[in-house]
Amino acid sequence: MTKNQNDYLQNRNVAGFKTLSLERGGEKELIWHSIQPFLAEAPENASILDYGCGTGWLAYKAATEYSMKAFGYDPSEKMIETAQENFQHKNLQFSTTMEEAEGLRFDISFMIFVPPAINTAEDLYAAFKDVQHHLKPNGLLIVVTANPENVFYRHAYYEGISPENNVKSGTPYQVKIYAADNALVAEVTDYFWSSHDIERIATEAGFTLNTSICFADKNTPNNTKPSNLPYKLYKLSSASI
Ligand SMILES: C[S@@+](CC[C@H](N)C(=O)[O-])C[C@H]1O[C@@H](n2cnc3c(N)ncnc32)[C@H](O)[C@@H]1O
Repeated sequence: MTKNQNDYLQNRNVAGFKTLSLERGGEKELIWHSIQPFLAEAPENASILDYGCGTGWLAYKAATEYSMKAFGYDPSEKMIETAQENFQHKNLQFSTTMEEAEGLRFDISFMIFVPPAINTAEDLYAAFKDVQHHLKPNGLLIVVTANPENVFYRHAYYEGISPENNVKSGTPYQVKIYAADNALVAEVTDYFWSSHDIERIATEAGFTLNTSICFADKNTPNNTKPSNLPYKLYKLSSASI
């Protein structure tokens, strides 16, 4: 892991993740709504990998609402400590290392808002490869992230990024993190990965893109073009052998 990425994690930790953006404005509920069908369709007793699980909400919901065996991985010790404090369940395990999952093969995996936390194409490739290694043949990977073609809509989050700036994939940008009462709690660096690069790198790591879809939150103007909606979900499947 590069120094920058450690800084990113440190900054996130300083902010205290409970106050971060996923808790704001119903965003977490929106993401849950977008991924729930994949859990509902999964085989009985399916196992899930929540890769870059942060404070563990998704792994916990899968374990408790879908009786799945859930493994939450995040390289940040602080995130995993918080996840372990927040959520305990017999079907739930959190770890800062994927070594604890060695030998396990999952039916379905999720990467929720993880690409913006990764600062090099090599690390993004390594993350996809790691997920691929831990999936069953034909296992699913669901990636949900800010639609990289539309980082512009929330100017408070993505200052300095604008269509006129001709942003290159992999570009760092400053993100302001607000608490529920709109107080500024931290500024961190996130990374802009184009959809093209996310799809290319995932494919190089052995995934096949089944479909992708952009979706909106309630703050999105009605006349927004479908491809410019603020969130993007990618459904990928791992190699069959
Ligand atoms: C914006 S947070 C999202 C957390 C969680 N998925 C959620 O939905 O709340 C991004 C997470 O990615 C983690 N992360 C950073 N680099 C990573 C990497 N190389 N592999 C996996 N996770 C990483 C960070 O520690 C952080 O918890």
